[in-house]
Amino acid sequence: MNKKLIVANWKMNPVTYKEAEELFRFVEKGMRDIKNAEVVLCPPFVYLPMLARLFSKQFCAGAQNCFYEQGGAYTGEVSPLMLKDIGCKYVIVGHSERRQYFFETSEIVNKKLKAVIEAELKPILCVGEDTRDSFDSKGHWTHELDPKVKEQLVLMLNGIPKSKIGEIVIAYEPVWAIGTGKPATGDDILSAKIFIQKVISDLYGRKVSQTMRVIYGGSTDSKNAAVVMKEGQADGLLVGGASLDGEEFVRMMKCIAL
Ligand code: 13P
Repeated sequence: MNKKLIVANWKMNPVTYKEAEELFRFVEKGMRDIKNAEVVLCPPFVYLPMLARLFSKQFCAGAQNCFYEQGGAYTGEVSPLMLKDIGCKYVIVGHSERRQYFFETSEIVNKKLKAVIEAELKPILCVGEDTRDSFDSKGHWTHELDPKVKEQLVLMLNGIPKSKIGEIVIAYEPVWAIGTGKPATGDDILSAKIFIQKVISDLYGRKVSQTMRVIYGGSTDSKNAAVVMKEGQADGLLVGGASLDGEEFVRMMKCIAL
């Protein structure tokens, strides 16, 4: 059985390094008996170099973002090679909050994706529609109502060779489910996963589409994680709010990956 991938996205939290280290140590201790998961913590950039030294094989560091050049005169940016150098393994690219607040387009995400792959890091590529109107009256997810996920995928994967596709983890994160307390249902996630696989299959062939990991993010917690994973056939979770509460995050990991 493939290990589940559990990714904690701390976003712009907590506001002191002391709190970050406390949370890190709590999670690190709590996950010692977790056998069936690869856990990735994505703290804010400033904490990464300090925390990256404390990670182990099953528990690794990820970044929430990066720039698409490896070095140069780009004030305020962080490159994939810098992340690699301090021990990061994964980088989240294309998160909807970056689209919303920093005007990232799929074309920019595409450049970032290429730079992350070039630096031999693993990208966690986010896709998701904005509203729940993408579901028909029976509650089935229909891409005809909202072509966004397909459009995002096609643009973001433009020029990525087939040989590199297996390294990408797709995170299905519907915007309407992020931070709302209203997660997608298992059915929603499964139909989104099938749709994503179909798009990948059309672009790269069926075999590649079946091996690609598709994880889910949006209002997950210890109460819904097991159902979401099982019914949605998700290969893992991308967790926001619940990852900031050490006890809750450890509980969550235990119900899906002991
Ligand atoms: P929440 O779990 O807080 O809804 O956030 C999901 C998310 O955006 C993870 O990247």
